[in-house]
Amino acid sequence: MILDESYNEVRDMVARFSDQEVAPLAESIDRDHAIPKELIAKLAENGLLGSYVPEEYGGAGMDYLSYAMIIEELSRNCASTGVLVSAHTSLCIWPILEFGTEEQKKKYLPKLASGEWIGCFCLSEPNAGTDAGSLTTFATDMGDHWEINGTKNWITNGKEADVAVVFAKSEKTDNYKGISAFIVETASEGFSIIKQEEKLGIAGSSTCSLAFDKVKIPKENLLGQEKKGFRIAMATLDGGRIGIAAQALGIAEGAFRYARRYATERVQFGSPIASLQAIQFKIADMSTKIAASRHLIYHASMLKDRKLPYSKEGAQAKLFAAETAMWTTTQGIQVLGGNGYTKEYPMERYFRDAKITEIYEGTSEIQRVVIATSEFKSIS
Ligand code: CAA
Repeated sequence: MILDESYNEVRDMVARFSDQEVAPLAESIDRDHAIPKELIAKLAENGLLGSYVPEEYGGAGMDYLSYAMIIEELSRNCASTGVLVSAHTSLCIWPILEFGTEEQKKKYLPKLASGEWIGCFCLSEPNAGTDAGSLTTFATDMGDHWEINGTKNWITNGKEADVAVVFAKSEKTDNYKGISAFIVETASEGFSIIKQEEKLGIAGSSTCSLAFDKVKIPKENLLGQEKKGFRIAMATLDGGRIGIAAQALGIAEGAFRYARRYATERVQFGSPIASLQAIQFKIADMSTKIAASRHLIYHASMLKDRKLPYSKEGAQAKLFAAETAMWTTTQGIQVLGGNGYTKEYPMERYFRDAKITEIYEGTSEIQRVVIATSEFKSIS
């Protein structure tokens, strides 16, 4: 894809950072189930936690396409690091930027952009995953403040977060209509982490269950209009899905590069296995699916940057890139054979990390629902 030189500069800068600072830690991040604080500090120092935040609020003032490239390049070496940045940026910073009051933006964005604070997004619950509208966390209007009670599940950055965008019903309804959005500081009394998940992949990224027990929220921390929270959640996820698509692309690209190099070095039957058509076809298909994913992701990002509709295109990008990541990493293990199945090689980590991209921020089935709904709407 031909892009302006400024995008190549962003990519080169992040690729260098990723190769020098992230790659050497990727294995230990996976093994130790944590991203070192020092790495988070370096991400912040390099402006990677506030890339999408305008300069007036302390960010780097980049666009969404640059942000997608950042997630891609970080995830090429470490998908856990990629998703920490993605959940922080797409799911916490973006809704505050888009729906926040000037006071909310001034209060929260500089701290989030500088990495002083990390953000998360609290929508899912034990009984409200794909059916997000059925959530039961409740926000009671106490006159001079809100009080939030409930439990949230599957919260990326749950352990690190200082700020959470939380969705709760402020009116009892059995559908999405009573949902409102709130900005919650996790230092608030009554907030606690009740569980950290042990997962198949993205082991360095924290995924937590969070409890809200009579958490007192100032009135001014309502985000957007009361009872319009579901729209905020859906709009946020539209952009978040581009971020996860970029994460999937990075995983696929990392696995592809490893398999390609390995094929030139591994000798069987007297020649590198790269000389075998069975391997060449796998490399050709990986390369083609990765290129197609990149086009879908950059196209959706450009639509978002131009303020054109991008919900369907974001879903297409996530669907295709996630399936590409899963397919490429499966084929990557096949190229490496027995070696690919061991922890001596990074391919099994890429494989484990790829799976979540077909699940979080809307499963591949939900992406198909979003795409099909949009297609049928376009003819009605
Ligand atoms: N942007 C803005 N508003 C939207 C929207 C969008 N893309 N899509 C729907 N809406 C609005 C509609 O306009 C409607 O609002 P009004 O009544 O005010 O007009 C409202 O939302 C309901 O719309 P639908 O009837 O289309 O919604 P639905 O109830 O049928 O649900 C769904 C649609 C696609 C299934 C949706 O529920 C969905 O996307 N579910 C998956 C949720 C999800 O991705 N969960 C995981 C995210 S969190 C996570 O992964 C954790 C993490 O930390 C990473």
